[in-house]
Amino acid sequence: MKKVILTGDRPTGPLHLGHYVGSLQKRVELQQSYETYILIADMQALTDNAEHPEKVRDNIVEVALDYLAVGIDPKVATIVIQSLVPEIAELTMYYLNIVTVARLQRNPTVKTEMKQKGFGAHVPAGFLVYPVSQAADITAFGAHLVPVGEDQLPMIEQTREIVQDFARIYQPVLVEPEALVPKVPRLPGIDGQNKMSKSLGNAIYLSDPPDIVARKVKGMYTDPKHIHVDDPGTVEGNPVFSYLDAFDHDTDVVSAMKQHYRAGGLGDVTVKKRLIEVLEGFLEPIRRRRSEFAKDPAEIMRILREGTMKGRTAAGRTLANVRRAMHLDYYQD
Ligand code: TRP
Repeated sequence: MKKVILTGDRPTGPLHLGHYVGSLQKRVELQQSYETYILIADMQALTDNAEHPEKVRDNIVEVALDYLAVGIDPKVATIVIQSLVPEIAELTMYYLNIVTVARLQRNPTVKTEMKQKGFGAHVPAGFLVYPVSQAADITAFGAHLVPVGEDQLPMIEQTREIVQDFARIYQPVLVEPEALVPKVPRLPGIDGQNKMSKSLGNAIYLSDPPDIVARKVKGMYTDPKHIHVDDPGTVEGNPVFSYLDAFDHDTDVVSAMKQHYRAGGLGDVTVKKRLIEVLEGFLEPIRRRRSEFAKDPAEIMRILREGTMKGRTAAGRTLANVRRAMHLDYYQD
């Protein structure tokens, strides 16, 4: 029996290079050797988008297209729409009773996001508890491995605690997952200040057309002290070089450029020109596959419908075990 992988994305916008480096790449790599579920987490997206359901709806297909474009193969990987698996919501309700509000308020990712969004005391209850619903996502499919970016580690940690507490209080019927964090450092945004993120407006999307990619790269933050071409420049924390590290296969060229940049004499314009070429080489086939798939919306819906059905079956099995462990199997069938 293959081990199970589960990951997910909130459908609040198209996926970007940070998603690729942080998680998509690993999913494509592992989809053959693991049973892979990929969740389009629309319920989680609604936890801070209650007033914009149309945004969530529109992005279901966008995210699905991004998956297919980067090489997720629907014949081996299962793409699931979260809200159409009510078993996840039911699991969430049971888990909520074994998690404290204090523990949720300590979750570092939730804390950061609450600050970023300026929620304060007016945080939607659903948002505060989304780590629990994410634990339900992960355990519903019996995931052993969760390929995620570093910022998601607190979610996996909280899931493991729920699994352990569930086992202690009821029975050990849930799989304790492990995070799989990529070795490459996480990709900064084009502002060089934060991780790449849709809400911070510093992302390059997998579906961005060439002129937008070029414009974004040209406007990228670099070393602010590198004013004249001859000035020595700093490579560390310079996002242009972080992107080259992530996407340029010619490591010799990249290290030569770094050396030259440090010594002085290599202009930002030249480095950015290289980056635009490298990104085009990466994005062009993705864009092409994306527009191929986009021509057949009925086929996308078929893939989502089938995946979601398969997902429900898996989640239903877990839920039956959970209900039995909690003595809720009243009819015993
Ligand atoms: N919280 C994740 C993010 O913001 C998305 C997500 C939802 C997820 N459910 C998941 C990730 C389950 C891994 C496993 O990116």
